[in-house]
Amino acid sequence: MKLGIEKESTNSHPNSPLKQLKNVACSLLAVWAVTTVSPALAANQRLPPLSTEPNRCERAFVGNTIGQANGVYDKPLDLRFCDFTNEKSNLKGKSLAAALMSDAKFDGADMSEVIMSKAYAVGASFKGVNFSNAVLDRVNFGNANMQGAVFRNSVLSGSTFVDTQLDNAVFDDTIIGYIDLQKLCTNKTITEEGRDVLGCRF
Ligand SMILES: *[C@@H]1O[C@H](CO)[C@@H](O)[C@H](O)[C@H]1NC(C)=O
Ligand SMILES: *[C@@H]1O[C@H](CO)[C@@H](O)[C@H](O)[C@H]1NC(C)=O
Repeated sequence: MKLGIEKESTNSHPNSPLKQLKNVACSLLAVWAVTTVSPALAANQRLPPLSTEPNRCERAFVGNTIGQANGVYDKPLDLRFCDFTNEKSNLKGKSLAAALMSDAKFDGADMSEVIMSKAYAVGASFKGVNFSNAVLDRVNFGNANMQGAVFRNSVLSGSTFVDTQLDNAVFDDTIIGYIDLQKLCTNKTITEEGRDVLGCRF
């Protein structure tokens, strides 16, 4: 599935000194933020309390409707701390837009074709997850473990990967905005091959 390229990529100047300065400033700010505020604390402050619904984790197998793809919802899918390890059939193709996924485990799961727009996945584990053809725009993957995840033909525009482990992640035909690409490329955990495929310049 190909979606439109982000608008912000059209007015980017690859090597403008201002942009480079901004990037340096951003990295410094990011480091400062990490060292001064515990990310967990900051996250808890803006997240709703954990849902008390008995089968809240199973709701992922139903997903939410396409109308919620922009993260407009009354009640979010609350998948925090749920364990979907090696879930090979029930997540594929589901809409998990704006789901709360922090600290959940998806290791080895088949999440191909999922729609996860605006999901909050801080600290979640997605080791070796198949994200082929998935729509993962505007997701916060901060501190997540995505070692060996496969992003084949997936959309990653607007998603953030601060302190995300991306060793051996596979990026093939990934759609990503230029600004996001620059941010992603600064992540040293991406392999040489992954950087080549993404088109990292530095
Ligand atoms: C990942 O999912 C895609 C799309 O469903 C499928 O074609 C592919 O075989 C899967 N890859 C692996 C390694 O399971
Ligand atoms: C990439 O990962 C490193 C080390 O985990 C982290 O310090 C950095 O913030 C990440 N970069 C981006 C742009 O997410």
